[in-house]
Amino acid sequence: MDKVVVTRQVPDKFIKQLETIAQVEVWNEAFTPMPREQFLNAIKDATACFITLTETIDEEAINAAPHLKVIANMAVGYDNIDVQLANDHKIVVTNTPDVLTETTAELGLSLMLSVARRIVEAERYVQDGQWQSWSPYLLAGKDLYRSKVGIFGMGDIGKAFAKRLKGFEANIMYHNRSRNEEAEEALGALYVSFDTLLKHSDFIICTVPLTAETENKFDSEAFAKMKNDAIFINIGRGAVVDESALVSALVNNQILACGLDVLREEPIQMDHPLLGMKNAVVVPHIGSASVVTRNKMIQLCVDNIKLVLNGNTAKTAVKA
Ligand code: DGY
Repeated sequence: MDKVVVTRQVPDKFIKQLETIAQVEVWNEAFTPMPREQFLNAIKDATACFITLTETIDEEAINAAPHLKVIANMAVGYDNIDVQLANDHKIVVTNTPDVLTETTAELGLSLMLSVARRIVEAERYVQDGQWQSWSPYLLAGKDLYRSKVGIFGMGDIGKAFAKRLKGFEANIMYHNRSRNEEAEEALGALYVSFDTLLKHSDFIICTVPLTAETENKFDSEAFAKMKNDAIFINIGRGAVVDESALVSALVNNQILACGLDVLREEPIQMDHPLLGMKNAVVVPHIGSASVVTRNKMIQLCVDNIKLVLNGNTAKTAVKA
């Protein structure tokens, strides 16, 4: 009989669907990842696993799971998985594209506006009892309206974000591995070099996945090229940014502020310098976190597992 390992608590209705075709072992914790040793042990006789970003599928995991046929990752990004190695072992790897696109774009916009209008700082100001009177420049921020916005990564999420920017009459520039002429036409986005994007944007948003090409793309050189009043937003992956370079850029007023949904190390250490800064807003990797979208992501993982275990093609397999 097939066996599915599910590494996080998900609603029963999803587990029941898996139980129609397999024995299911669930790590029934909502906020704590399955300990690595327990995971390696659980997948020994598993034919499928449903994982989240907190599990790493490397050589050790692949070797521990000789019967594995499918790994369903509850995320669109899959830098936690050695896809090449999995595919070499004839294991199908799936992700959750499309269903989270709009929700993630909304988080990007929320972060951008929150940083631009200093919402987090303003809320703390009120809570701390500092609000004495109305003043002309009290917590004055920056307009998104008619600003120049640079999007690094014009994939589905980049496009969904650009669509929303149209309502702000923003001038949209983008940089991507390859040009996206459809997006240029539909969204009036201008394709520019990475350097031009850095130099001319009032706001820069990073939506790219983590790859060998994108790792540390935002380094000290990149921040030095940005405008002194630029706002940097990251909803892609943390390791695309050299965080010490970002901290220096904020401290030295090379850029104005940042908003980060993703960090190199998650959860962030409480003594991380970014946490003490007024001009850095950090949220805990919640880009796709609406209830509806998270349900869709879980359902897609379940569908993919059922399809593969029943000998069919997965809906959303990824290739190395
Ligand atoms: C993803 O899907 O890759 C996000 O980072 C988590 O939703």
